[in-house]
Amino acid sequence: MENEVQKKRILSGIQPSGDLTLGSYLGAIKNWAALADEYDCYYMLADMHTITVRQVPADLRRRTLTQLAAYIACGLDPEKNVLFVQSHVPAHAQLGWVLDCYTMFGELSRMTQFKDKSAKNADNINAGLFTYPSLMAADILLYQADLVPVGGDQKQHVEICRDIANRFNGIYGDVFKIPEPYIPKMGARVMSLTSPENKMSKSDKDPNGCVYILERPEDILRKFRKAVTDSEACVRYDPENKPGVSNLMQIYAVTTGRSFDAIEQEFAGHGYGDFKAAVGESVVEMLRPIREETERMLSDKAYLQGVYRAGAEKAARVANRTLGKVYKKVGFIDR
Ligand code: TYM
Repeated sequence: MENEVQKKRILSGIQPSGDLTLGSYLGAIKNWAALADEYDCYYMLADMHTITVRQVPADLRRRTLTQLAAYIACGLDPEKNVLFVQSHVPAHAQLGWVLDCYTMFGELSRMTQFKDKSAKNADNINAGLFTYPSLMAADILLYQADLVPVGGDQKQHVEICRDIANRFNGIYGDVFKIPEPYIPKMGARVMSLTSPENKMSKSDKDPNGCVYILERPEDILRKFRKAVTDSEACVRYDPENKPGVSNLMQIYAVTTGRSFDAIEQEFAGHGYGDFKAAVGESVVEMLRPIREETERMLSDKAYLQGVYRAGAEKAARVANRTLGKVYKKVGFIDR
């Protein structure tokens, strides 16, 4: 028990706004499973964040459950990690509102994701899309998280979370732990297979650019066969001039544990065809057990329900403690 109190805490989450991608897997989830022994880990399904963009309700429900099954299949043991659905813990919305009042219009306007998403959803630039980072700050701060393991694209959101927490602490004393982003050295930015200057994204309009972790092996292999490379016909790491090949090398490095030097040697004198096939195979083999285990778990809805109910209960206990402190600090009278 004493030990548990001393463990550092981790909080992260993924939006079930699309099927899980190879980018989210390599940039985030793959690294989460290894942290369970050393840290006290909380992983959410960020369903509240998804409705900043219009969702089909039945699809959102299906994807949330599938994502939970995939979390477990990726090695997140529910006995060792708290797995929960964001909307099941009302403290997220409650602290989100408080933090909205400590977040500045100017700093929200500078968020790259807001700019990107408002360009993509010009007919629905809603207030939730704008204040998305203060809800994300609430997600993190409620758990007094020390570390937030995310891909490179979320770094700015963790930074604004730190700014909001520092501002609040500056007024009311040490209420929030100031979290650090935890970004992997490899896989932090997996790029699209068809336009390697853009990150691989579940909202990609081009279905060949993005690999989904539950996709059929033949589809994954086909996407890698079609991946954009260049005309040099040489497997060499040079992200500036060879973004397509370098992205594939990065993926292969993570799936096989090999260094860039070793990969260059392995494919010296080979054409891109062999290289792309090998990368595709390595991804298929890495994902095969995850797909099979996710499918198996999805056939046991009662088990999944048990996991998310227990997770929400454990998460709410921690979250409500922080929320209570915050309410007191800002001057709300006790119920
Ligand atoms: P989301 O759902 O867009 O992405 C989930 C995680 O996957 C990482 N990621 C990538 N990493 C490498 N290469 C890529 N191509 C790639 N695409 C996605 C993301 O960096 C992220 O770690 N706002 C968050 C969800 C969220 C959250 C939180 C995260 C809500 N509350 C609290 C951490 C803490 C998001 O939209 O991630």
